[in-house]
Amino acid sequence: MSDAPLLEVTDLCSGYGRSQVLFGITMRAPHAGGVAILGRNGAGKTTLLKTLAGELRATGGSIRLDGKPIEGRTPEQRSRDGVGSVPQEQAIFARMTVRENLLLGARGRDSGAIDQVLRIFPKLGRRLGQTAGTLSGGERKMLAVGRALLGRPRLLMLDEPTEGVWIGVIEEIADQLMELAGRMSIILVEQHVELALRVASYAYVIDRGTVVLEGPADDVRNDKALLRYLAP
Ligand SMILES: Nc1ncnc2c1ncn2[C@@H]1O[C@H](COP(=O)(O)OP(=O)(O)OP(=O)(O)O)[C@@H](O)[C@H]1O
Ligand SMILES: [Mg+2]
Repeated sequence: MSDAPLLEVTDLCSGYGRSQVLFGITMRAPHAGGVAILGRNGAGKTTLLKTLAGELRATGGSIRLDGKPIEGRTPEQRSRDGVGSVPQEQAIFARMTVRENLLLGARGRDSGAIDQVLRIFPKLGRRLGQTAGTLSGGERKMLAVGRALLGRPRLLMLDEPTEGVWIGVIEEIADQLMELAGRMSIILVEQHVELALRVASYAYVIDRGTVVLEGPADDVRNDKALLRYLAP
């Protein structure tokens, strides 16, 4: 059944201790294609990705990957299941070189996989021996995405991959994400709404831990309510 989603999230609740942040999120992601998660600061986007990655425990609802429940699985198990993620912060090992970071992502797989990533982000190829902590903001984001790709995810979740990145490099990252979305499932949290809606074919807008608007990217772009939900 080609229509069955890769990821199916139903009534997902989670938060930090007693402070509940997500109040019943229902969403899906197809086997290939981009899904955008939009919402103002503090809406719960990072909390959602962390709960999907298993870093935060779901306190309610279900997460299914290819039909199988994964909400009880650890982050490591989910990563083996094919869930890759690029967190909003600390996505690379700053004291290691670019090459060492990539080797860690490859987890002993052949270096051909690393060559593939270097074809996607040629800038990294020129900096293999450089300490990751000395990379520019844009290069760091590329390294983080490249490292996650080396885990061969079926689903790649990105938490603001363009945050703090110069506009020229943002376009470069967007182009690569668009290409990746052609062959894998991408969940993209982004403040750059136009970019997110270009990469994604479907979007969810989150406000105070619930989905307040969703639909095909073009519909969401033209929805009058969008600006209201994104206004600070
Ligand atoms: N570790 C934590 N402990 C307690 N509360 C937290 C923690 N992390 C986040 N929160 C709270 O959870 C809510 C949602 O935060 P979250 O980081 O998911 O927002 P976000 O949509 O990713 O925002 P941004 O666009 O600023 O990254 C916020 O009110 C935040 O203060
Ligand atoms: Mg966030």
